[in-house]
Amino acid sequence: MRLTIIGTGYVGLVAAVCLAKLGHIVTAVDREHVIQDLRVHKLTIWEPDLQEMLETCRRDGRLSFDIDIAHASRDADALMIAVGTPIGVNGQTDLSQIDDVIAQLKQVDGVCPPLIIMKSTVPVGTCDELEANLLAAGLQTEVVFNPEFLRQGSAINDFMNPDRIVFGCRSHLAKAALHQLYKGINAPIQVCDRRSAELIKYASNAFLAMKISFANMIADVCEGYDADNRQVMQGVGADRRIGPHFLRDGIGYGGSCFSKDLQSLLTSGKAIGRSLPLLEATAQINEERIPQLLEKLISLWGNPRGKRLGVLGISFKPNTNDVRDAPFLTLLRLCHLYGIEVQTFDPVVQHTSIDGVIQMDTAYEVATDADAIIIMTEWPQFAELDWVLMARLMHQPILLDGRNVLSDEVISRLMLVENVIYIPVGRPMERAKLTLSVNL
Ligand code: UGA
Repeated sequence: MRLTIIGTGYVGLVAAVCLAKLGHIVTAVDREHVIQDLRVHKLTIWEPDLQEMLETCRRDGRLSFDIDIAHASRDADALMIAVGTPIGVNGQTDLSQIDDVIAQLKQVDGVCPPLIIMKSTVPVGTCDELEANLLAAGLQTEVVFNPEFLRQGSAINDFMNPDRIVFGCRSHLAKAALHQLYKGINAPIQVCDRRSAELIKYASNAFLAMKISFANMIADVCEGYDADNRQVMQGVGADRRIGPHFLRDGIGYGGSCFSKDLQSLLTSGKAIGRSLPLLEATAQINEERIPQLLEKLISLWGNPRGKRLGVLGISFKPNTNDVRDAPFLTLLRLCHLYGIEVQTFDPVVQHTSIDGVIQMDTAYEVATDADAIIIMTEWPQFAELDWVLMARLMHQPILLDGRNVLSDEVISRLMLVENVIYIPVGRPMERAKLTLSVNL
């Protein structure tokens, strides 16, 4: 198929390289400065395998770039929209980037392909409205909704090996085209109406966020009753009806998707007079994570003003350089309020322009003279650090493990030999209890 993809963010660019790899001829469209970079294979996104795949697809002539939607769409069999749909005023989803694409398609005769595949996450009913809008302008095209479930950091693998592919469409023709598009990917395909497909995307992200908040809520109970949430969640997740994924407790979820989609779903609920209390609680539990953790530190410090906090990890999760809605940003804001100085290290987020951050070149520099360290992102290399050296470099050896990344062996050495105050999430911090569990 000849495919035009509008938007080269995470979803658009990953879809572009993966669909080109599957044998389609893909043109990806974005603003001029973005395309200039992509043409010389310069990526602003840090995602495993993406760079190599992009170079291969370009070399093989299956992937090209353009800045003109009309020009890129002229001979396309389908146009895929993968632009941003951020939260706008009053919690409404801002669809202006999609409206822009549609306006450009309407401007030039004969460029609107017969099929528009919506990948951007959009509120229920959006595809119906867009199709009606195009029809009213005399353009015969079907708008289908084909949600994306990829995670940053494992995006290529998630695209090529999805748990399911969802097509929200109304005609056999569209369904056949989508089958052709994903030929080569071995996954169950669910065909449904467009509105249900739009809701599948929101409900999936909301459910995942809810699982995380649930794990965090139980983590608090564990801390209060000297239980270990790692063991609790292992036991809970072993039930196949629940599943072991997305039950990791810690500093809460971040990233550009969960908060935004939860907010959007809450707004959709409000529009029909429903309050969706489960989602409200999910968001509230998440918002309380960072303030709660910081409180623990402050209670140890007494006066936080002038203290130096070393932060390991800036991105909202490992294997990405994305800092959108990263828990780190919430932490930073609170630290500024309390007058706490912040020095950070992240393996890929470097030379960031975030205000009020002192960025170091190594984790050891972050530890130097710090009054505490907090692990914000579970980059695997953090677990491998020489933690004894880290502790010795610190001014005050307090370690808050926001992602529970350190092994029991390292923790017991730090606590028992180096006198580190180790604060985990979801389990007791008392030395005696820890020693007991290590020696079991
Ligand atoms: C999420 C969904 O997982 C994807 O299916 C979806 O396609 C994507 O949003 C989207 O809508 O575009 P993503 O935001 O890339 O993907 O990352 P996740 O792996 O879901 O992690 C989100 C946040 O939850 C991270 O901050 C992560 O650290 C946190 N998390 C995840 C936990 O705190 N505990 C867990 O057990 C799992």
